[in-house]
Amino acid sequence: MPSVRFIEHNETEYLVQAEAGHSVMQAATSNLVPGIVADCGGAGNCATCHGYIDEAWIDRVPPPSEDEQEMIEAGCMHSQPNSRLTCQVVLTRELDGLVVRLPVSQT
Ligand code: FES
Repeated sequence: MPSVRFIEHNETEYLVQAEAGHSVMQAATSNLVPGIVADCGGAGNCATCHGYIDEAWIDRVPPPSEDEQEMIEAGCMHSQPNSRLTCQVVLTRELDGLVVRLPVSQT
């Protein structure tokens, strides 16, 4: 069961357990992590699940699709090169320990 560490902009941390095959967004919302709203329920068209993949993990997470990248650029405040729609990042056992930081706009 992969764990994910969410870190808010103010450094508050939330360590949660999630099912492999679930998205990072689902890991956050099912554990009441603040800042991940997920208005569209994971359809990839609201950008309210924005998170930053920690630099130590960026090479281990598959890159965003073209559609996701367009939504990040169009809909995410404070986007960075490591920005992702967390609903589009699927957890695997290999991602156990993944660290996701939350934008200042989502506190
Ligand atoms: S939940 Fe809407 S884009 Fe991720």
